[in-house]
Amino acid sequence: MKIISSIEELRDQLRGQLRTAFVPTMGNLHEGHLSLMRLARRHGDPVVASIFVNRLQFGPNEDFDKYPRTFEADVEKLEKEGVYVLFAPTEKDLYPEPQEYRVQPPNDLGDILEGEFRPGFFNGVSTVVMKLFSCVQPKVAVFGKKDYQQLMIIRKMAKQFALPTEIIAAETWRADDGLALSSRNGYLSSTEREEAPFLYQTLNRVAESVRAGNHDLVTIERQAMQDLSARDWKPDYVAIRKRSNLQAPTVEDIAANEALVVLTAAKLGNTRLIDNLEI
Ligand code: PAJ
Repeated sequence: MKIISSIEELRDQLRGQLRTAFVPTMGNLHEGHLSLMRLARRHGDPVVASIFVNRLQFGPNEDFDKYPRTFEADVEKLEKEGVYVLFAPTEKDLYPEPQEYRVQPPNDLGDILEGEFRPGFFNGVSTVVMKLFSCVQPKVAVFGKKDYQQLMIIRKMAKQFALPTEIIAAETWRADDGLALSSRNGYLSSTEREEAPFLYQTLNRVAESVRAGNHDLVTIERQAMQDLSARDWKPDYVAIRKRSNLQAPTVEDIAANEALVVLTAAKLGNTRLIDNLEI
């Protein structure tokens, strides 16, 4: 595996490649990330991964400085997955001058749910992904459903800018107890780690209730928030939304059997976890 930090060298290395499959990450790789590498390999060749902790998508009070950085271990894992190039730019490589041009997602997609609680987050994500795509010029790129809203925003960005990159969705990889793997799980104490699967259990209860024909979605959401709050969680949201655009379903939508997804974000101690489940 070639480890490349400069955009110019990356371009030289990938020149003439027409089927590149790309997986952008922020490192601290776990099985979820590696499952994306495997899916990428099924859709293209060579597989290119990136590791870059993108300052633009962190708020002033978020964990940019303490975000886990485990470069050596990550390299070893990517080698084993047969990744051809790891693009690992420094901040100077990717942002040699302040990034003033930005990709601003539409408000109805970028300012709801995660975007409401993390202002500017999806602007930072969209901007870095656009720039990484410009560097790698992939035929396909793989994103996890774990970050459902992110996946939708990148999909829409690719479509509206007519990018020549197909966006592929990977299923959420979970621990045996249901907890979605995340780099931030490492922040959990051992007692918090035992409690953490309750988030996924809550999503499952919501999904079962909707599937059973309970159409009072607001009450279901409120109950789920209460269940979390009753056990030391501080939920930001539990929201049942349309998969197509993440808007709240109307009565007509439900009657028409619109595909739904339930999304949540909640803090357990100092760690903010997100998860979602297609209903
Ligand atoms: P990061 O959190 O490192 O995630 C990189 C990719 O791995 C994302 O597409 C994410 O959805 C996926 N992923 C994370 N945990 C997963 C799991 N348990 N199962 C399946 N996929 C999982 O998301 C980012 O980085 C950044 O926002 C990025 C897109 C790289 C832009 O900076």
